[in-house]
Amino acid sequence: RGVVVAIDGPSGSGKSTVSRRIAAELGLAYLDTGATYRAATWWCLRRGVELSDTDAVAATVRDMPLEMVTDPAGPRVVCDGEDITDAIRASALSAVVSQVATNLEVRAELCRLQRAEIEAEATGAPGSRSAGRGIVAEGRDITTVVAPDADVRILLTADEQARLARRAKELHGTADAATIEATRDEVVRRDADDSTVSTFMTAADGVTTVDTSGYGVEETFHAVLALIRA
Ligand code: CDP
Repeated sequence: RGVVVAIDGPSGSGKSTVSRRIAAELGLAYLDTGATYRAATWWCLRRGVELSDTDAVAATVRDMPLEMVTDPAGPRVVCDGEDITDAIRASALSAVVSQVATNLEVRAELCRLQRAEIEAEATGAPGSRSAGRGIVAEGRDITTVVAPDADVRILLTADEQARLARRAKELHGTADAATIEATRDEVVRRDADDSTVSTFMTAADGVTTVDTSGYGVEETFHAVLALIRA
């Protein structure tokens, strides 16, 4: 059986960048579970579903024709034959994704999908990307709900200022004071909303915390790699 690495963390903790690099380094598949919630939101908007209508949203997500391409060198999200990898990063979508992600029926459905993906890579099922070497899955409830029995479970944290600066840079190319303020709503409010359904701000039992506040990508990558190899 291949290795399963579970990495959780809030927005701007660096989990996506580091998870991708770790997967590439070790020849593992890479699953961005946040992208499945973003895709679900995109699909509901595309279908004209009112996001506050929880039953309609749940039913729509159950029928979502989603394909996650788990190549760490070029992860892609395809829905209904359309490549939506870039579209799901739009700020307008980020602003409403928590509405869909706090829908418990949606969470149950997407957890099922994520577990199937993890299982396929861990067992080397036909069509699996890693040929059974395993997978790095990242999100907000991977260490606790989706894969609590993962071989390695890590929580990446960073103080609010560091997370805001990273996200500002990622979205707008600069981290000056005004841009950081403009990013605050997206990051802080979304984390607060998400915290109502997942506990990713503190580590669960058996989960190792890595505080990346003073770290760059390189240092975080090596710290996580060391934990996996330990
Ligand atoms: O990149 P960032 O951490 O800002 O967000 P993301 O990983 O793309 O996740 C987008 C949204 O999906 C989050 O704000 C959560 O609402 C939701 N999510 C979740 O509920 N559970 C997960 N395991 C991953 C993401």
